[in-house]
Amino acid sequence: MTFKEDDYILITTDERKYLKRITKDFSFNLKDRVIKYEDVVNRRHGEVVKSFCLLKPSIEDIILLGFQRKTQIIYPKDSFYIAYKLDLSKEKRMLEFGVGSGASTAVFSLLAGEVWAYEIREEFFNLSKKNWEKFGLCQNVKLENLDFLQAQIEEEFFDAAFVDVKDPIPSLEKVWKVLKPGASFASLLPTMNQVSALLREMEHIFCSIEVVEILHRHYKVNPERLRPQDTMVAHTGYLVFARKRI
Ligand SMILES: C[S@@+](CC[C@H](N)C(=O)[O-])C[C@H]1O[C@@H](n2cnc3c(N)ncnc32)[C@H](O)[C@@H]1O
Repeated sequence: MTFKEDDYILITTDERKYLKRITKDFSFNLKDRVIKYEDVVNRRHGEVVKSFCLLKPSIEDIILLGFQRKTQIIYPKDSFYIAYKLDLSKEKRMLEFGVGSGASTAVFSLLAGEVWAYEIREEFFNLSKKNWEKFGLCQNVKLENLDFLQAQIEEEFFDAAFVDVKDPIPSLEKVWKVLKPGASFASLLPTMNQVSALLREMEHIFCSIEVVEILHRHYKVNPERLRPQDTMVAHTGYLVFARKRI
């Protein structure tokens, strides 16, 4: 595969990655090394030009470097694990609210058949659509600018649900109703007291409840001095997983 005009390209050095779009006036300059349109167009993915490795961006690169963020997002380290715990596959119909900047939805839509997504604030509804359209993502997402509590959904409709709102408790009963028996539920909460409050509400209507935190530590990639990087994202949120019981 080769790079063409209008493609997104990931330019990598030993230290950093840069996500850019290839336009006629494309020019990337770092420490006196410059690459221009003619240096990247028709190059094969993975080629090295002037010591930059040219790659097709992954979904992680797109979310972390390409999405405009105006809300806290679910980081790929959490969203891919959530997708795994929700047992997403192309036969499954999933519920998600709130959508925020659209980061977690972008991951779920790759793995689920359909995602029915609700975002209460128009600003974030527009932002998530813009992020997805920019990278041609989320064509199987049915997004509505609506409070999930106002959505008309038949009972036992979804195979899985992910809830990322400040307080999931007021919507828990409705989430339970729209999930199929035995279906999977997940939520991310930033503080332990929120998790405790949610657990109390879930006790009698969900089973197989788990609370998980994912610590993600990057290493300095030096074979002679292999050691962790000095700083890390120490906390994103606690993940709560469960299955609907009847
Ligand atoms: C933290 S953001 C979600 C971030 C998103 N998961 C991502 O990865 O980009 C929380 C969002 O929930 C929305 N929200 C809160 N209550 C809601 C509700 N009842 N229905 C739909 N959206 C809601 C907020 O407007 C906000 O945009």
